[in-house]
Amino acid sequence: MVLVTSGTTVLTSKTICTRVVQIAGLKLTSRSAAFAPGLVPSIGLQIQRKGFSSSPATCLKAKQWFPPPPDSKIEYAPAAWKHPVYTEEQMNHIVIAHREAKTWQDRLAIRLMRLARWGMDLATGYTENSAHVDKNGKLAYKGWLVMDERKWLTRIVFLESIAGVPGMVAAMLRHLHSLRRLKRDNGWIETLLEEAYNERMHLLTFLKLAEPGWFMKVMILGAQGVFFNGFLLSYLLSPRTCHRFVGYLEEEAVYTYSRIIKELDAGNLPAWTDPKFQVPDIAVSYWKMPEGHRTMRDLLLYVRADEAKHREVNHTLGNLDQETDPNPFISVYKDGKKDHPGKSIQNIRPTGWERDEVV
Ligand SMILES: [Fe+2]
Ligand SMILES: [Fe+2]
Repeated sequence: MVLVTSGTTVLTSKTICTRVVQIAGLKLTSRSAAFAPGLVPSIGLQIQRKGFSSSPATCLKAKQWFPPPPDSKIEYAPAAWKHPVYTEEQMNHIVIAHREAKTWQDRLAIRLMRLARWGMDLATGYTENSAHVDKNGKLAYKGWLVMDERKWLTRIVFLESIAGVPGMVAAMLRHLHSLRRLKRDNGWIETLLEEAYNERMHLLTFLKLAEPGWFMKVMILGAQGVFFNGFLLSYLLSPRTCHRFVGYLEEEAVYTYSRIIKELDAGNLPAWTDPKFQVPDIAVSYWKMPEGHRTMRDLLLYVRADEAKHREVNHTLGNLDQETDPNPFISVYKDGKKDHPGKSIQNIRPTGWERDEVV
């Protein structure tokens, strides 16, 4: 149902929930606007009701999820894990890639990943049909489900809330294994925890751009219950298969963020290319985003590079002996002249490192 369709104005946080304005032909509902980034008070948008959403209609301001306590003595709390600095060139070299399934565990992992992907697509209303620029250079939509800013954010928030689970579960199980078996872990735990932390930072960043409605919150709750327990049991049975599964999941994440960047470049997500759009402060400080490189596109490049790193880490860990091999991403190598895995994306291998290259 179209609410209002014309007129350009500047929105204030008070009026944005009730007034409808136009920019670049984008149409969103007043409800969906609550989930769309870039719908900051200073940006005008033409708003149109589209489909079901439980996102609050009454306020477009992203919720302050963790408000500081009043009269706190603390100025700020820095990130526990410092994010490595990525250069623009390195981030532009991230590619979509797929590791061929070689063993039955690989084939099982890819089937499980496809099942998980199907569930996620269903939960987030994802479709390959999307907005695109037609022959006349105008914004057009294919299919009945349009991947606009709101729908992308719905998908991202849901995916990132799940993505933080595997690293934490794997780290926890390896930690407990080390304690009860009185054995060293060989340095895997830190990298796995760092991955979980990094995924949570993705979630917190995108939550600054959107407030999920009750429906999405219920979906997240249910998905975590199912996925946490499923992954826990699976990791006890076959950690190698689980790392391969996460590697394949991260392949999908790289694909998804690459596609969003493509949509952005094609002009299909105008709220995110608006010059007034600002990335959240949490993103600027976490990724150390330099001045002049703080657009939504820049943010997506950082997140995509992180996902590519997780893809490399998990495919590599899936190639190793789970009991005895050291973590290659923190190891210091005898031959300093060769390329080796590291914490950053300098020598990134899209399909992971083979065991004989790193051990
Ligand atoms: Fe992520
Ligand atoms: Fe990831």
